[in-house]
Amino acid sequence: MVDPRLNIIDKRLAKIGKIIAVSSGKGGVGKSLIASTLALTLSRSGHKVGLLDLDFSSPSTHVILEIDGLYPKEEKGIVPPVAHGLMYMSIIYYSGDAPTPLRGADISNAIIELLAITQWGSLDFLVIDMPPGIGDATLDMIRLVKDINFLVVTTSSKVAFETVSKLIRLLRDLNLPIIGVVENMKMTDSSFIRENVEKFKVSFLGEIKFDYELENSIGDVNKLLETDFARSLEKLVSQRPEIKS
Ligand SMILES: Nc1ncnc2c1ncn2[C@@H]1O[C@H](COP(=O)(O)OP(=O)(O)OP(=O)(O)O)[C@@H](O)[C@H]1O
Ligand SMILES: [Mg+2]
Repeated sequence: MVDPRLNIIDKRLAKIGKIIAVSSGKGGVGKSLIASTLALTLSRSGHKVGLLDLDFSSPSTHVILEIDGLYPKEEKGIVPPVAHGLMYMSIIYYSGDAPTPLRGADISNAIIELLAITQWGSLDFLVIDMPPGIGDATLDMIRLVKDINFLVVTTSSKVAFETVSKLIRLLRDLNLPIIGVVENMKMTDSSFIRENVEKFKVSFLGEIKFDYELENSIGDVNKLLETDFARSLEKLVSQRPEIKS
């Protein structure tokens, strides 16, 4: 059976310059912090930016950016409200604080629905905060979104990279564009991640040190942008022509 929503998705995303999925495979490595800060950084440097929180079971970008009390407008679909200059879309508009346990087909269905109803209009960048894992959501996004670029996040740990390397392999085998890999929460000197990323012939974008001040800036966008974390991310990004802010 053909799902008519699939055709609509292409149309909905047609006027977006670059779609960046911040992904990892591994949980807890800083995807949501990086996605939120990247979106803010790109927006503050004059681009039109959307942020889509695709983590249905534990959305968190609304906490990082302190987004509360906003609701999308219905207008031949859903127009995401603007928060801190970003067009912002998340399941929290519909679920609030209630848990949203979804599995298998229900996850796919929710992703298709969200992509089909959201009217982003024209954007320079759409940043997507991906859930952990390389299962449903990742495979669905690969299937549903034609021009999707992956920004891969890992920590310095071999344990994290074991899983992250599986995502890299999957993306590489499918010939999907990988912007590069960010090594986050770095605490000691080690070239393990860089060397292993380079073995995959994927760009190593650089490292972001563990930042003890980061937690204090959660929920305060201006403070967040002043952190060493945000400055390091901005530096990494500014070296990449395709996401240059
Ligand atoms: N460079 C850093 N320095 C210090 N703390 C960090 C750094 N990066 C992320 N964190 C913290 O690590 C925790 C996990 O970050 P985050 O929620 O962004 O990870 P995630 O990959 O999105 O997790 P999940 O897989 O659950 O979605 C958060 O408390 C965040 O503040
Ligand atoms: Mg997250």
